[in-house]
Amino acid sequence: MSSGLESRHIAPDKIVATTGPVISAEHIRLDYKKEKEQLPVLDDVSLNACKDEFVTITGPSGCGKSTLLRIIGGLLKPTSGTVKFLNDPITKPRTEISMIFQNFVLLPWRTALENVTFGLSSRDDLSEDQKKERATSALEDAGLKGFENVYPGELSGGMKQRVGIARALALEPQALLMDEPFSSLDNITADHLRKEIYSLLINPSSPIQTVIMVSHNVEEIVELSDKVVVLSPRPAHVVATLKIEMPRPRNKKSEEFFAWVDKLYSLLA
Ligand SMILES: Nc1ncnc2c1ncn2[C@@H]1O[C@H](COP(=O)(O)OP(=O)(O)O)[C@@H](O)[C@H]1O
Ligand SMILES: [Mg+2]
Repeated sequence: MSSGLESRHIAPDKIVATTGPVISAEHIRLDYKKEKEQLPVLDDVSLNACKDEFVTITGPSGCGKSTLLRIIGGLLKPTSGTVKFLNDPITKPRTEISMIFQNFVLLPWRTALENVTFGLSSRDDLSEDQKKERATSALEDAGLKGFENVYPGELSGGMKQRVGIARALALEPQALLMDEPFSSLDNITADHLRKEIYSLLINPSSPIQTVIMVSHNVEEIVELSDKVVVLSPRPAHVVATLKIEMPRPRNKKSEEFFAWVDKLYSLLA
């Protein structure tokens, strides 16, 4: 793999949030219905993600992080509460928001390029050639130039997740949601991808205005986040919202870094 993640995406029609958050979730409640019983999962959760902000949702296992992210992405309807994209209520998945999953969710019978173009299948405004061009360029940005015709089964975990990243980039979303995107990768691969991802996602030529990630890896959170929303055990409410103001790239050996790690651990304990 020659290049790392680079950003060359230009979005001339990017709608920029001038005031207010790009995404806001207001008073979200969610009860899963299990047979006759109700399982309360989210109990009045509010958060927002502003322009150029990398927001992480964290909390104990099973507290409702993935559920919350699916609600934000319009994949699941909350029992009550509202999610808004640039002040417009989100009631179903929309093209401005895309999602990267923990387990890659690639189609094994399609090549890397075909997996990325498949993600564009609903884009009737693009010709087949345009889709291919976009997908090729997204794969290159994600560090997979030369791997266009390789099948997922022949790719390492890190490379599969790069295909997932490319698929999200090709959609040129304005908001990107990631559910534990590094957690099924080995440490070294995950570390490598984390180092590249912030500048790829949030930079002036990227259409992406905001990122919301779910993670329970404290060091990863401190390395990447501008803001951290800490949830309680289920049913989840917001325990704390922290702003991490530290220059990037962040020095994982600095005292400041350790202080943030300690603080988060104590909130999650
Ligand atoms: N589709 C579902 N139906 C019923 N219960 C669910 C469903 N999805 C998740 N749950 C339950 O909701 C709770 C929160 O799940 P989840 O959002 O996946 O938590 P997290 O991502 O924080 O680990 C868990 O107890 C889980 O078992
Ligand atoms: Mg989860």
